[in-house]
Amino acid sequence: MAPPSSEEPAAASGAGAISKVLVVIAMQTEALPLVTRFQLVEAAADDSIFPKGAPWTRYHGDYKGLHIDLVWPGKDPVLGVDSVGTVSAALVTYASIQLLKPDLIINAGTAGGFKARGAGIGDVFLASDVAFHDRRIPIPVFDSYGIGARKTFETPNIVKELNLKVGKLSTGDSLDMSPHDETAILSNEATVKDMEGAAVAYVADLFSTPAIFVKAVTDIVDGEKPTAEEFLQNLISVTMALDQAVMQVVDFISGKCISDL
Ligand code: ADE
Repeated sequence: MAPPSSEEPAAASGAGAISKVLVVIAMQTEALPLVTRFQLVEAAADDSIFPKGAPWTRYHGDYKGLHIDLVWPGKDPVLGVDSVGTVSAALVTYASIQLLKPDLIINAGTAGGFKARGAGIGDVFLASDVAFHDRRIPIPVFDSYGIGARKTFETPNIVKELNLKVGKLSTGDSLDMSPHDETAILSNEATVKDMEGAAVAYVADLFSTPAIFVKAVTDIVDGEKPTAEEFLQNLISVTMALDQAVMQVVDFISGKCISDL
């Protein structure tokens, strides 16, 4: 991930304590336990920082010396379901960086895991790398742009202290996995698969904002069960594991500088 530029706030250059954390979450079910945990309040719709018409929702509050903003892309205005996927994630991340100027982004959510690479249901991973698996552009250089592989912001002390699993994350706009996706995911050497991470990383990198990716496994992609069924079956219980891990990460961050992570 690109180093912070000299125009960033002190915390982003590693010089001062982190004060503003932005949590980006795709699903309401994943977001609400954290809203309760950190006692965040929802920003009133008539007082939103976001442009009129955007369904994006922000919860905010202070926790252990940090100001936490948790943003969720909201419900699709037509269909009423959570606005999952890369487009909504990139948009809400972009707007939040511009308007809130966070020192650090935590993209938290659920993911599919590969048992062949050591993932099990309920495991929580910190992503070391992210890449896309459904942006195939077979033209030199455009091919690498499509894959968009990048290292995430390194947090060796979080990994050591919290004993989280570490693995590569591959992102695409589908919950299931086509044969094309499978080939790309293998090539990305991914242990976990989600629908937002690489998009959030792209935007965070554009604006030199350190970002970390906390992903909890709801379904085993290389297992026997149909993905959608297994995902829905485990969503609530795994969200509890995600909530616990994000709290531990935020507790660790409290009072620290970016360079301490
Ligand atoms: N989120 C949870 N499970 C997933 C999967 N199998 N693929 C993409 N995103 C997910």
